[in-house]
Amino acid sequence: MCGISALILADQSAAACPDLHESLGLLQHRGQDAAGIVTSGPKGRLFQCKGNGMVRDVFNETQLSGLIGSLGIGHVRYPTAGSSSITEAQPFYVNSPYGIVFAHNGNLTNADELRVFLDKIAHRHINTDSDSELLLNVLANNLQKTGKFRVNQEDIFTAIKDLYRQIRGGYACVAMIAGYGIVGFRDPHGIRPLVIGRRKTVAGYDYMLASESVVLDSLGFTDVEDVKPGEAIIITQDSLLRRVLAVSDRIAPCIFEYVYFARQDSIMDGISVYKARLSMGEALADQVTKSMGNEMDIDVVIPVPDTSRVAAIQLRKNVRRKLNAMALEFSGKNVLLVDDSIVRGTTSKEIIQMAREAGAKKVYFASCAPAIRYPNVYGIDMPTRTELVAHGRDDQQVAEEIGADKVIYQDLHDLVESVRKFNPAIEKFDTSVFDKYYVTGDVDEEYMASLEQGGRSGDSRGRLSIDSDCVGLYNSFNR
Ligand SMILES: *[C@@H]1O[C@H](CO)[C@@H](O)[C@H](O)[C@H]1NC(C)=O
Ligand SMILES: *[C@@H]1O[C@H](CO)[C@@H](O)[C@H](O)[C@H]1NC(C)=O
Repeated sequence: MCGISALILADQSAAACPDLHESLGLLQHRGQDAAGIVTSGPKGRLFQCKGNGMVRDVFNETQLSGLIGSLGIGHVRYPTAGSSSITEAQPFYVNSPYGIVFAHNGNLTNADELRVFLDKIAHRHINTDSDSELLLNVLANNLQKTGKFRVNQEDIFTAIKDLYRQIRGGYACVAMIAGYGIVGFRDPHGIRPLVIGRRKTVAGYDYMLASESVVLDSLGFTDVEDVKPGEAIIITQDSLLRRVLAVSDRIAPCIFEYVYFARQDSIMDGISVYKARLSMGEALADQVTKSMGNEMDIDVVIPVPDTSRVAAIQLRKNVRRKLNAMALEFSGKNVLLVDDSIVRGTTSKEIIQMAREAGAKKVYFASCAPAIRYPNVYGIDMPTRTELVAHGRDDQQVAEEIGADKVIYQDLHDLVESVRKFNPAIEKFDTSVFDKYYVTGDVDEEYMASLEQGGRSGDSRGRLSIDSDCVGLYNSFNR
């Protein structure tokens, strides 16, 4: 998963960098592997600073003060396609045409085809394994086709419209054309999120695009709205134009944003992440009650502290500390542990083991997400099918595998309704990892097998500690 932002200030003598820098800090939970900012200064000169690591490690005061200019884009990355060691940090840059920088969140499902097209037909050299570089080059190639010395908004809209026909997958993108302006667009299915807002200043309005509304709220932007699925927005010093360029009857925002990716103080596609999580927890509580039936013997409910890739070791310590502190509560009791999801099952297994060591009698495990049985191909870094603990196993078998007395999963329909009830206009969500329904229609057996051969490895989930425990469930039981 990744986080993106773009900013254009009304006052051309002001610096966009401080706010961009802050925006990346606020999006850090979406990716901790790399961060980058590119700004555009006088005469359209570009200034960049990017590198591997957390936002606080990548940028220092000296470097930040060197990022001059009143517009720019930023990115935090967790690798999806490509691995962090060989993939450059974003934003990516091409000098022709016009000098374009680009950053995106998501993953493409026809990357192989695009690679061939760019090589054989467009004659563009691709230097990394990153989907972003492909996207940028498709965009650059489309703009190049205009053959113009300077592009105008119409040309950019046309280039993005063509791009929508050429690429498939889940993606939200920001771009900056040197000395011209910023651009944002979102895939036709609205799988990945993107919001826009404005801020009144004496010089006029500043505009910002970001993956999550929390960025705009924190930086004093108002009139925050979602970029529509298939919509492109072009903002220059003196205009803002927006246009829906691709219409799909299959709008399907990613449900995982609500389950655990997004910060709970964000509002996405009109839905408060916090409220959705509360309601998921309530639904899970009902599910637990239903599935325990007459055997209901749970004495205590404990949310599993959030796992974090960066702090993997810290996490174990934290979990242990938390569980130790509760040892008294655990001893001789039947415990229900609650986590947002079970992916590989390795963490769940360890935590269950710890609970047993702390003296728990029975350990039940509830998951706010239904059983994850299929890979995610739209930008959430998850292992391939065979590495998923629930792939090819029923609930009972998953319980045995992770050492729980029972595993209780959220029902898929309940999960969808917990989110959807806050914006019934959204009929569908991307739930492919649970039900194998891939909205782009191009993910088949062959594709999944090729993912497995690719031998993608690495950690399963890239996120920082965010309070995504099933608050609602916890409340329901500990009232
Ligand atoms: C900031 O980082 C740059 C590049 O790594 C380094 O040359 C510079 O000395 C650092 N400045 C400070 C104040 O740490
Ligand atoms: C992203 O897409 C590429 C090919 O289109 C694939 O190789 C890669 O495994 C995908 N990543 C994920 C996480 O699905």
